Amino acid sequence: MLTINQAIKLNGTCRVPGDKSISHRAVMLAGISEGTTEITGFLEGEDCLSTLRCFQQMGIQVVHRGDAMVITGRGTEGLLESQDILDAGNSGTTIRLMSGILSGQSFLSVITGDSSLRSRPMDRISVPLRQMGAVIDGREGGRKAPLVIRGGGLKAIDYAMPVASAQVKSAVLLAGLYAEGVTSVTEPRASRDHTERMLQAFGADVRSEGLVRSIRPSQLKGTRVEVPGDISSAAFLMVAAACLPGSRLTLEGVGLNPTRAGIITVLQQMGASIEILNQREAGGEPIGDIIIAGSTLKGIEIGEELVPSLIDEIPVIAVAAACAQGETRITGARELRVKETDRISAMAQELSRVGVQVETLEDGMVIQGPQRIQGGTVESHGDHRIAMAMAVAGLMAESPVHIQQPECMAVSFPGFEQTLKQLVVNR
Ligand code: S3P
Repeated sequence: MLTINQAIKLNGTCRVPGDKSISHRAVMLAGISEGTTEITGFLEGEDCLSTLRCFQQMGIQVVHRGDAMVITGRGTEGLLESQDILDAGNSGTTIRLMSGILSGQSFLSVITGDSSLRSRPMDRISVPLRQMGAVIDGREGGRKAPLVIRGGGLKAIDYAMPVASAQVKSAVLLAGLYAEGVTSVTEPRASRDHTERMLQAFGADVRSEGLVRSIRPSQLKGTRVEVPGDISSAAFLMVAAACLPGSRLTLEGVGLNPTRAGIITVLQQMGASIEILNQREAGGEPIGDIIIAGSTLKGIEIGEELVPSLIDEIPVIAVAAACAQGETRITGARELRVKETDRISAMAQELSRVGVQVETLEDGMVIQGPQRIQGGTVESHGDHRIAMAMAVAGLMAESPVHIQQPECMAVSFPGFEQTLKQLVVNR
């Protein structure tokens, strides 16, 4: 159990762990490229370690050299059939992106995950990958993991995605590396574009035009990848600092990719003071230092246009909304219902345990603020972002918040508790 006490403010400077999305992609592209790839800033969180273990099972060599991880790739055609089931753990990115790569391999793969992952929709990838020629089966006719994939002999498709999802887009683009012809994917709204950026850095022929991404079969060449700090992890600290007047927090080397940076826009609209310094590029991704000061926040509307750029931050935005003056209305976020948990109902349930009322919508939530956050005991639901959002609520609560099953925080933010301890000024 993790206990969080009320804080006066957050003060100091820190670096958040490496970006989870980028770390996964670095391992995957390194594994299927020629030569070596040196990755610095890799997130040693549970999700990315699942990806790493899966690739090791398929013959990929990984060594640590100083603070870098060095992966020797086997080329697009060189992965080996795994002797056992591949385990994606809690990670949707692992199972969905890898399914794209496995669809290109002329061997059999079985991939599964924990009970949360086994309850999440997989038809969103099995449908387009089958259209490309992969043979995919699984529970409920391929809608749920474990998935069994016999790859090879793929043909390009033009796929119009029904939902904005970087995982689906990436699965199809990665399969497109192996498909005859030009594969294209069209999204309803722009989702995170780390796959496209990194494919380009590894030398793939990938193109973007409006909401259409296209790819031709390409050989990849190992490169250096500098993984920026994860803005989705930074978000917990940013919200805590923003809600506590008197706070001043500097987060160094955070990824500022516009397809991920919606949290900055939202906190600014809510009245937080945010400055970005030392803007630069690292490995094809924009990064910079975020300086955030606390203030009195106000409620705002967040609609579907902004949602893909802050989808993982909505649990902690709900906490900011509870502290803000007036109404915050979040819509167009139905995807939250199929994350590690149903994050709309999990946040409503856990916030209510500490005295905060949330009106849930099918595709979002409405929160009237400011509300008193009382203390209490809450559940993580085994979902890292619910656990950390409730920890942030604890910093603003009148009496301690006890979080049950907090270990899941290590999925994306190992050391979260220590980082908070270092930055928080308690009463
Ligand atoms: C991710 C994409 C998003 C996000 C997830 C990571 C990725 O999921 O919620 O945490 O790395 O591509 P969807 O693609 O399902 O929106």
